[in-house]
Amino acid sequence: MRPILTAFCLSFAAAMPAGAATFNTLTGAAPIIIAHRGASGYQPEHTLAAYELAARLGADYIEPDVVITSDGVAIALHDTTLDRTTDVEALFGPRNGGYDAVDFTLAEIRTLTVDHAPATPVNESAIPDFVPTSATPYGVPTLQEVVDLVTGYNAANGTDIGLHPELKTADPALNRIIVSTLVEAGFSTAGDKVYIQSFDLQTLRDVAAVQAELGSTIRQVALGAARVEDGVPMVICSLTGGTPLGDIADFVDGVGPSLFANPDLGIGVTSVFVGLAHDLGLEVHPYTFNEADPEAAYAAFVGYFDSGIDGFFTNYTDVARTSLARYEATPSPVPLPAPGLALLVGVAGLVAIRRRRER
Ligand code: G3P
Ligand code: CA
Repeated sequence: MRPILTAFCLSFAAAMPAGAATFNTLTGAAPIIIAHRGASGYQPEHTLAAYELAARLGADYIEPDVVITSDGVAIALHDTTLDRTTDVEALFGPRNGGYDAVDFTLAEIRTLTVDHAPATPVNESAIPDFVPTSATPYGVPTLQEVVDLVTGYNAANGTDIGLHPELKTADPALNRIIVSTLVEAGFSTAGDKVYIQSFDLQTLRDVAAVQAELGSTIRQVALGAARVEDGVPMVICSLTGGTPLGDIADFVDGVGPSLFANPDLGIGVTSVFVGLAHDLGLEVHPYTFNEADPEAAYAAFVGYFDSGIDGFFTNYTDVARTSLARYEATPSPVPLPAPGLALLVGVAGLVAIRRRRER
């Protein structure tokens, strides 16, 4: 190609859009959509209805928070108490001064209804005629029932939805139940679609020990606030304080930082933090995207997608899915050539023109 033409083409290409967007994630794949407490923007959180709707709306992973009952059963519940989300106060008196789930048997918990209203009525969701198929869509489910819903949904629909459970209490029995329940369902190795998360690093270490015993290599995510101090990325947990990511990169696979900056804790999720975590081989799964409006959500997502987050928690799976598809379909600009290269090409073009005129 003639130099002058080369120079022209390079400058033209710099202004042209290229192919579909690429991702700055660790693997280069699209970030995973994690349905935070199920499709909790539309259905009462941590119910089989919320999990099923999340699956239908296109979640990559379902997130159940997990606590334990007095008779040693893992159940899906965010709080360690039952009174915020269920009708327990109408049916039972307080125990030990409150309504801790660990003070109730599974049989008692099975009598409860989750009556915590979702943020948005279901008839405003992407599936206005959604009718849950579970016989107990608004009870407090066991972890086993959540796992069964996901595996059953995958088998019936040819999907490959994973699980991203969070341990909400530090309890050796709960650690063992979670790992064994996941392993028995085929969510066992680092190659399977499963992560275990906690705000408590010691809990994650204890879970790792159980995994080693059971031959499991499920990936782990350490939750907390993000911070960068003197170039060192850290995760700040109320339970364990601040920890440099380099100190935990040997046993966790990712971090789950809060999106929100807090002057006393984290800086929110920045591209610098994501890059430093990636340098350590750690994925970044921030929480929680809670924007229901598609335009506002997309505007918020773009910068985070650019930063290279590897996954994210959202209450609105469908809005996240639409935003991700729009981002993927939006061409990335071709990077400008290095200034030195552009200058060389330009000079070569001018020399060629001058020589041609001199002939
Ligand atoms: O697990 C990520 C995120 O869910 C942590 O916040 O309080 O909703 O469990 P929380
Ligand atoms: Ca959680």
